[in-house]
Amino acid sequence: MCGIVGYLGKNQAQNILLDGLKRLEYRGYDSAGLTVYNGSEFKTLKVKGKVAELAKLLSQQKISGTIGIAHTRWATHGEPSERNAHPHSDCQGEVFVVHNGIVENYKALKQELEKEGHKFSSETDTEVIAHLVEKFIAAGLNLESAVKKSLHLIKGTYALLIMAKIEPDKIIAARLSSPLRIGVGPDQFIIASDPSAILNYTQQLITLDDKEVAVIDQQGYHISALDGNGSVDKEIEKIEWDMTAIEKGGFDHFMLKEIFEQPETVSNSLRGRLIDQQGLAALGGLKEVETELRRIKRINLVACGTAYHACLVGEYMLEEYAGIPTEVCVASEFRYRKPILDPQTDVIIVVSQSGETADTLAAVKEAKEKDVLTLGIVNVIGSTIARETDAGVYNHAGPEIGVASTKVFISQLVVLALLTLFLGRQRQMSLVTGGRIAEELRKIPGYINQILEQNEKISQMAKDYGQFKDFFYLGRKYNFPVALEGALKLKEISYVHSEGIAAGELKHGPLAMIEKDLPSVFICPQDSVYDKNLSNMEEIKARQGKIIAIATSGDTEIAKIADEVIYIPKTLEMLTPMLAVVPLQLFAYHFANQRGLDVDKPRNLAKSVTVE
Ligand code: G6P
Repeated sequence: MCGIVGYLGKNQAQNILLDGLKRLEYRGYDSAGLTVYNGSEFKTLKVKGKVAELAKLLSQQKISGTIGIAHTRWATHGEPSERNAHPHSDCQGEVFVVHNGIVENYKALKQELEKEGHKFSSETDTEVIAHLVEKFIAAGLNLESAVKKSLHLIKGTYALLIMAKIEPDKIIAARLSSPLRIGVGPDQFIIASDPSAILNYTQQLITLDDKEVAVIDQQGYHISALDGNGSVDKEIEKIEWDMTAIEKGGFDHFMLKEIFEQPETVSNSLRGRLIDQQGLAALGGLKEVETELRRIKRINLVACGTAYHACLVGEYMLEEYAGIPTEVCVASEFRYRKPILDPQTDVIIVVSQSGETADTLAAVKEAKEKDVLTLGIVNVIGSTIARETDAGVYNHAGPEIGVASTKVFISQLVVLALLTLFLGRQRQMSLVTGGRIAEELRKIPGYINQILEQNEKISQMAKDYGQFKDFFYLGRKYNFPVALEGALKLKEISYVHSEGIAAGELKHGPLAMIEKDLPSVFICPQDSVYDKNLSNMEEIKARQGKIIAIATSGDTEIAKIADEVIYIPKTLEMLTPMLAVVPLQLFAYHFANQRGLDVDKPRNLAKSVTVE
């Protein structure tokens, strides 16, 4: 995710800014940049790629000055490039902005500003902020008022640092739903999105709250509410944190942090994309192919690993709610299968977190050879798959560092649900059904939070089952892919044998293995296949197999059969995978962690698989 650092004091800003950016590297980014004021002019340097590249540039052309702002960017709007890297500027090069978050209404604002004569030089949403501030300064406002007036026009989220020629010795900081902290003294201020960039210099921190604006200069700081001018009194906290713990947000591993981020991930993937009253999904990335998509008669979903499991859930969603025949294929098989594709009526949708997986990319190429429309559901902006596909939807899940995918899986399910709404409403899906799905999607973050509250219980369960060497994961319909995903999570990080099975297949082979030393994790919410699942559980029970059940809150029946029950809130059947997978992720995490394994970097595996 993007990172922000600002410096104002008596030392050379570039050193502290660079040090801060380096400390934010763990968050993942694709470009970096800084602006420093040297007493007479502003100097900006940007690079695509690593902070080390920026450091190299700086060693060649030193930028002196004791005030500046810096940024590491993780692309959301516009590909990773020097041009799209922050700081962004206005027409005259007199306003400088670094921004974390998304300006949701940037298109409308940009159009308006362009009509007024503003010239844009990047594809980012952030740049509109610089032009808005420019506009209000030109209208006679001082810097603070110009920033406040601009922020009133912005919809979305932000952590912002702004400098401008009109008052060059100040940094303005503002926040809405994206963190920003001010490190205070001695004789200097370090402002950053993450304490890890500050704590090397001071442990005295002020946390900006939503809709607060800080004006910082050599004399001190003044914080006021976005909607007022009076001061807001803020407490300075002393923070004594261990640096590595900070990078992981206080969690022991990135994987656990990413599991806990999932409520926010769902909100980020949904942001600006649901038109609730009309039961519609607004997917900007599909605008250009909207008409072509109306004639589609078959969907081919192609992916690898966890993304493949998301596709299997998508198949159920798209067939049941959009009424479009859908096939799913693992990418490594797709092109060797000689797929029969009709350019008139087929679409290939590839799903990939990294956007670089070799097999998935090969499937895109195969589809293009055959002139078939290709769409990508990709997390990394500007990645090869995002560029090679005709159109697509980004996950907006932020960087995922743990090799075992968790939060991106959930975001893939969210995007597939949005796509189902989008394609379904183009066809026979009613407004009422669309509205119902939209309404339930909005509740998912809260539901996931309820499941995360059971973390301690799941950790204990992982301990209790720690001695077992084989596990079955079972489910039907929407939750059959969740069984596959739960089993994959366990095996990839704990190296214990686990197998995902469609519960209906139990009697066709796997049942032969059931005995007291082979526990089954059964995903059994109260859905259309509930009774069938209960029967399968009885079959396991009758053979002394232990059962951990994932069940709907309030289901007391299941507790009579299962040895352990983890409850998930009731939601629409098509959305249950977004909930059911969470306890399975936690179980796998604790199981592996209790064995002392390297959860974030499992042996033999890679985050991005760029070879066949
Ligand atoms: C690797 C990763 C998995 C991921 C799979 C597909 O195996 O370890 O977490 O699901 O690749 O990667 P993609 O980037 O295409 O989603």
